[in-house]
Amino acid sequence: MIFGAVLAGGIGSRMGNVEKPKQYLNIAGKPIIIHTLEKFYVNDKFEKIIVLCPNQWVNHTENLIKKYIGENDKIVVISGGSTRNETIMNAIAYIEEHYTIDDDSVIVTHDSVRPFVTHRIIEENIKYAQEYGACDTVVPATDTIVKSMDNEIISEIPDRSKMYQGQTPQSFKIKKLKSLYEGLSEEEKTILTDAAKIFVIKGEKVHLVEGEVSNTKITYPYDLRVAETLISEK
Ligand code: CTP
Repeated sequence: MIFGAVLAGGIGSRMGNVEKPKQYLNIAGKPIIIHTLEKFYVNDKFEKIIVLCPNQWVNHTENLIKKYIGENDKIVVISGGSTRNETIMNAIAYIEEHYTIDDDSVIVTHDSVRPFVTHRIIEENIKYAQEYGACDTVVPATDTIVKSMDNEIISEIPDRSKMYQGQTPQSFKIKKLKSLYEGLSEEEKTILTDAAKIFVIKGEKVHLVEGEVSNTKITYPYDLRVAETLISEK
């Protein structure tokens, strides 16, 4: 079985002083989260698409889905967690409560604020997660990556040809992800913002999926303006 998890549990603090979390802001007259969900909804491989948002936004999210996508039982909205990984774990808890999954069942986790994900990227995530157990969508780094341990002096400039920027989706075999996460110490859990890293620090392989430069994450007000431009070009 294949599940989608659209992660919308954040508050979008870097977007600045807006009245709602960034995933509910409009681009081209429609909330960002709806643009993103539509990309998942059209893929019939998903048994269920789980949308995770802050508890007080669950009703609002359900209403948006009714309005823009229509009543359906393919999408469910539940509360996210206090961190991104806890949000993913809430999705897994929902899946375990409602389905009997096997070792090969897969979850495709995706930022609600990456509305430009493509069908090809989602398909490759499903394929590679099934084949290798874990995969991460990336694009080759365009800028040289500079590492500084003290935020003042350069400690390292890695070979750019080996550097990538992480995007989403990140997709995993559900049982494996859960057991690795449960094996982390509380300290490891708080420093790990990235789900693929759960596999990496436990020595498990994560396969690369080729992303798209256009699959950007809407983080700052500037990104909203870029998103409006990208969408009007379609
Ligand atoms: N996210 C989530 N649960 C959390 C935190 C984040 O599902 N507890 C989601 C966000 O809603 C977003 C995605 O993870 O879709 C990527 O995170 P980010 O861009 O950092 O979102 P925010 O945490 O909302 O933004 P900020 O860091 O600016 O507050």
